[in-house]
Amino acid sequence: MKLGVNIDHVATLRQARGGAVPDPAEAAGICEKAGADSIVMHLREDRRHIQDADLFKVRSRIGIKVNMEMSIAPSVVKTVLRLAPEQATLVPERRAERTTEGGLDLFKKSGALERCLADLKRKKTAVSLFVDPDPRQIGRAAELGVEAVELHTGDYANQKSAALRRRELGRLSTAARLARAKGLNVYAGHGLDYENVFAVKNIAEIEELNIGFSIVTRAVRVGLEEAVREMIRLMKR
Ligand code: PXP
Repeated sequence: MKLGVNIDHVATLRQARGGAVPDPAEAAGICEKAGADSIVMHLREDRRHIQDADLFKVRSRIGIKVNMEMSIAPSVVKTVLRLAPEQATLVPERRAERTTEGGLDLFKKSGALERCLADLKRKKTAVSLFVDPDPRQIGRAAELGVEAVELHTGDYANQKSAALRRRELGRLSTAARLARAKGLNVYAGHGLDYENVFAVKNIAEIEELNIGFSIVTRAVRVGLEEAVREMIRLMKR
């Protein structure tokens, strides 16, 4: 099971004062040293945390995979194509949202989506589509010819009762099996933390978890390197 660490909130902290620290590129180096398999950054259309220059600085600083989270907004696509990362994860984006609120609806805006997929393919960027654990979306992702889906774990993570959490976990397992049967790589993420990660990491088809907020908040107590190491230890248990 691989871990991608999302460092957006290191940039959130930097933007709070508009200076140069903390530096996402330095944070990316620490995550790599701690054993992370990839670094995830979300270049939002409003540039509220990660800035264009961060992408190139992070890229030059690390040897592990860069996974760009992105919408299909033209200004974002243009920068990501210049970077040509190893992986891109397409997500829906609403300006007013605090964080990504759900998976993509792959039946909407399909012309623009297919153009973006073709552009990324030309750059040899592997594409993962962030979708809810919904069989229709998984089927559509396979039709679009992408390499992977990332299953949205937010609905699982947000459930308060054990019964509802079990139900969401069942949806995730079924979706993961279906995606794998259709030849897709299966990743998962959103809202995962040091407790709820256990059940998700036990779904055999899921190969990679992308986690940000809980690791960066844990880093305030134990430091970023240790926060990443702790998560890796839990994922391997
Ligand atoms: N995966 C995707 C596609 C996301 O949009 C996010 C949030 O940026 C994450 C993973 C990480 O979520 P969290 O910060 O809640 O761990």
